[in-house]
Amino acid sequence: MENVKETIANLPKDDGWNAGYPLYQYQGFWCSPNFIEDIILSQEGFKAEPTDIFVCSAPKSGTTWLKALAFAIVTRTRYDTSTSPLLSKASHDCIPTLSNSGKKLDICEPGLPLIGTHTPYHALPKSVLNSDCKVVYICREPKDAFVSLYHFLAKRAPNKDDYLSLEKAFDLFCEGKSFYGPYLDHVLGFWKASQEKPHKVLFLKYEEMMKDTEPYVMKLAEFMGYPISREEEEAGAVWEIVRLCSFENLSNLDVNKTGVKQQSKAKVENNFYFRKGKVGDWKNYLTTEMAERLDKLMDQTFAGTRFSF
Ligand code: A3P
Repeated sequence: MENVKETIANLPKDDGWNAGYPLYQYQGFWCSPNFIEDIILSQEGFKAEPTDIFVCSAPKSGTTWLKALAFAIVTRTRYDTSTSPLLSKASHDCIPTLSNSGKKLDICEPGLPLIGTHTPYHALPKSVLNSDCKVVYICREPKDAFVSLYHFLAKRAPNKDDYLSLEKAFDLFCEGKSFYGPYLDHVLGFWKASQEKPHKVLFLKYEEMMKDTEPYVMKLAEFMGYPISREEEEAGAVWEIVRLCSFENLSNLDVNKTGVKQQSKAKVENNFYFRKGKVGDWKNYLTTEMAERLDKLMDQTFAGTRFSF
């Protein structure tokens, strides 16, 4: 553990988005030291099992939603939509997070195969990359992901006066200096993996799922090895999962209105994970120049790939 702390202390460092909360660059991405510590420990100690399913995303890309959908699908024979733990626990508390022995530590459902993480694809433990376990990933249009992150971190900031301006945060985001950033590299890493190993990595887009969620619930269920039968579909199971996990439903639950969790030095209220849940909200915050800058960066990063938003 001392070695890990020493390794982190010697990494490239940036002041980050909040005074007193620096970011360090580890294996090409930026993150806070406590999360890097978890990642290093998981790289050293985590042993994936073929039945594991990793629920992956960059922050503010629809993690809360994907976790809820994956959990509802996998546990649907155990609970119906009136007894689901999603009604009384934040979806982040229904799925353990990857750490050195993550799933065994804080698992709430015996046998639950799901494990959540924001770790970039290339930095996942070797046993995850090399075993038969599955990975599902959700990405979001980067301008919306930035705006969402800016608001989330503003709410989480212990001292609001120390929080930086939208313009400064945008500069940092474009430079790749955001949690688990560069954001575009995070997306591209999982997209490439989904092209190379389509049986292992399912790549989903927030915007497409928002347009019509039902086919993606079917796809996700099939991919994870929990296919929804025709009988279930006819009985309305897909629609019920969509409704249970919808922004409207989850954001209005008591647990998500009032629940609070300590996350390292910060107090995080569950309602921070629910803001607007809209596509294209960036238009209310970014200037044309800012949008063009990020669009250009996307063109450069994704040039030569078949990927675009
Ligand atoms: P906005 O800030 O744009 O509203 P994450 O879950 O990765 O932290 O991402 C949070 C973003 O997803 C927030 O976006 C939040 O409102 C939105 N979100 C949370 N739950 C959702 C749901 N069930 N359906 C759709 N969007 C959701």
